[in-house]
Amino acid sequence: MVTYSTELASAENAERAEVLELHSIDRDSVIELRRGFFSDPPSLPSKYFYDQAGSVLFDEICELDEYYPTRTEASIMGASVDAMVDAIGPAGRLIEYGSGSSLKTRLLLEHVHADVTYVPVDISSDYLTEVAEGLRLEFPRRRIAPIAADFTRPFQLPSSGAGRARDVVYFPGSTIGNFRPSFAATLLSQMRNQVGTGGGLLIGFDLQKDSAVLEAAYDDRRGITALFNLNLLRHLNRVAGGDFDLDSYRHVALYNDRDHRIEMYLESCREQTVTLAGHTRTLSKSHRILTELSHKYTIDGFTEMAAASGWQREQIWTDANEYFAVGMFRS
Ligand code: TRP
Repeated sequence: MVTYSTELASAENAERAEVLELHSIDRDSVIELRRGFFSDPPSLPSKYFYDQAGSVLFDEICELDEYYPTRTEASIMGASVDAMVDAIGPAGRLIEYGSGSSLKTRLLLEHVHADVTYVPVDISSDYLTEVAEGLRLEFPRRRIAPIAADFTRPFQLPSSGAGRARDVVYFPGSTIGNFRPSFAATLLSQMRNQVGTGGGLLIGFDLQKDSAVLEAAYDDRRGITALFNLNLLRHLNRVAGGDFDLDSYRHVALYNDRDHRIEMYLESCREQTVTLAGHTRTLSKSHRILTELSHKYTIDGFTEMAAASGWQREQIWTDANEYFAVGMFRS
C-alpha cells in the first residue's frame, strides 16, 4: 500500500534526483529559473551573467567609451575620498555588499581610519577567500573579516563587540539600480537594521540623463554588451540543462521613460523551442526575454527612497555632468 507520506517522499526524491542532475545550481535556484522563464513575459535571473567569461566581459564593458558609470563613480570617489573617509569616521566596520574583486574598495582601504575592519560580503565563498587573502597581503595591518552570504537574503553580521563603534555599509556600482524599487527599499531597510541607529551607508547610484547616452551605454558599438548578455544563455546551457541556440537571439537595450530604467532583453530571431531546467517552451519570433533592469534616479528621488527605509541624507557627491552620484546616509 502506498501511503500519502511515501508518495510525497518519492515525489520529493524524484525532484531531488532531477535537481542533482542539474548539479551546478541549488534547488531554490532551479525553482527561481523556472518561475521566470516559463511565465510571460519570460525573464532570466541576472545572477547568471557572472560566470568566468561573463566577469571578463563585464571588465571589458567597464573600459568602453560608452559605458560611463564605472569610470564616473571612480572619479567621484577619487575627487572626494578625504571627505568620504571623514564621513565614515573611525567606524567599527566597513561592510561591502557584493564585494566581488573588491577593486573599488582599494581606494577606501588605503585611506580609512586604521581601526576600521573591512567586511566583504559575497555569494561566492571560494572567490571571497581568495580575494581576502590577496587583501591581507596588500594591507597587512588592516583587519579583514569576510562573510560568505547572499546579500539579497537576510544574513547575520557577527556582533561588533566594540560597543560604540559605528558600522558603515558600502554599496558601490549602482547595483541598487538593478533591483525593482520595492526590493531596493527592502535591501536599504535590511542594511539599516544591520548597522542600527547611528550607522552609515555609502552608496553609488546612477542618475537620469539623455536616453541616447543611456542606450549607448548598454548597447555599445563594438557589441561587447551584446556578448555579455548572450553569455547568460551559454552559462545556463552549461549549469541548468539549457539548449539555447546563441545565434538565434539578439541583444536589445531600451530606456523605459516611465519607469526610468534601462531594460535589457534577449530577443528571439525566429520561432523556436527551448528546454531549460527540465521543461520546454516555445518562443515566437521577436519574443523578448527580460535579463536585466538598471534604474536611474534623481538625487531627490533616491533620497526619498532612502528616507523611507530609515536613512537620512548626509552628503551627496556627483560629477560635473551629474551623470552619477555617491551618497553618504546616516540612520
Ligand atoms: N550594474 C550594471 C549596470 O546596471 C550592470 C550592467 C552593465 C549590465 N551593463 C550591463 C547588466 C549589460 C546586463 C547587461 O550598469
